[in-house]
Amino acid sequence: MAGFLLAALAIALFFSPPASSASEDEPVPLVIWSGMGDSCCYEYGAYQFKVVLERLIPGIYIKMVAFGKTPTEDSYNSFFLNSNKQVELACDLLSSDEMLANGFNAMGFSQGSQFLRALVQRCGSIKIYNLISLGGQHNGVYGFPFCPGSSSILCHLFRRFLGMGTYLSFIQDNLVQAQYWHDPYDEESYALDCEFLSDINQELVFKPSYKERFSNISNFVLVKFEYDMMVEPKETEWFGFYKEHQSVETYSMFESKIYRRDLIGLQYLNKTERIHFLSYPGGHLQFSFEWFKSNIFPYINRTFDNVRSPLKL
Ligand SMILES: *[C@@H]1O[C@H](CO)[C@@H](O)[C@H](O)[C@H]1NC(C)=O
Ligand SMILES: *[C@@H]1O[C@H](CO)[C@@H](O)[C@H](O)[C@H]1NC(C)=O
Ligand SMILES: *[C@@H]1O[C@H](CO)[C@@H](O)[C@H](O)[C@H]1NC(C)=O
Repeated sequence: MAGFLLAALAIALFFSPPASSASEDEPVPLVIWSGMGDSCCYEYGAYQFKVVLERLIPGIYIKMVAFGKTPTEDSYNSFFLNSNKQVELACDLLSSDEMLANGFNAMGFSQGSQFLRALVQRCGSIKIYNLISLGGQHNGVYGFPFCPGSSSILCHLFRRFLGMGTYLSFIQDNLVQAQYWHDPYDEESYALDCEFLSDINQELVFKPSYKERFSNISNFVLVKFEYDMMVEPKETEWFGFYKEHQSVETYSMFESKIYRRDLIGLQYLNKTERIHFLSYPGGHLQFSFEWFKSNIFPYINRTFDNVRSPLKL
């Protein structure tokens, strides 16, 4: 009897798959990239999602993207550490984590969203399935938090004036927000001198690898906040932006150059129903957990056997 059991055990061991490949019913890990001024580990902010999601999805591995030795240093870096450098560091950080070797889902808060998209496009050594963008600025910003240029002359003059210095290389290198500042009155300087956004949006040079990699994600979830006072125009959260030479009318993702010329594979993603436009009637990143649970959570609560397909809610 014992001999039979041992033999059965030996056979089972012999035929079991190698330990390194994740089993299909395991939860897919999640990477979270927080917004400007937030950090890896403040008790409020993005970190609370790690705590709650770990409770809701037993066994899930969740990693916060963080640079610096302390939460304060991490928060400082979200303002001043060059975006290209941040994406490069994140690529190293996530590629070297064995728990992420079979791929993961990713959720970005505000600017963390476009950094994650850059990561998909630039970092060939990782695999991202679902990319969730909460109030991300995929076509840049033109304006200042709580100073809506559309309704105040002073705010409008302020952004026009500031626009003149934004592409100077000193500012480009040292202020994160300048690296996705997009001046609709000066599209040429934006394309030429904006070091981060114009590269990932393929404004000047077309890099085929950016398109190959981005076309390969399972779902791209874009959340726009209808009463956003931090981000101008808020259409950038759905990949739209101001039409050229003015700052009132906007175009949608479908009308943008990046879509029409299919520079990063958005046409394929749309055709296969992998792009999801969601909106929430609130200010920047102001949403209820109930809404999150029914609209975003299903993209996170995935196992390896179902994460590769488009998800229609
Ligand atoms: C696309 O995804 C598949 C399956 O996950 C992978 O084998 C392939 O290398 C990926 N291609 C690119 C260009 O990333
Ligand atoms: C995007 O995909 C949807 C759903 O398949 C389709 O109805 C729509 O026509 C597509 N948009 C464009 C501009 O191709
Ligand atoms: C997560 O998904 C699994 C199925 O894969 C389901 O059984 C479980 O109830 C879901 N968790 C929550 C909190 O909805």
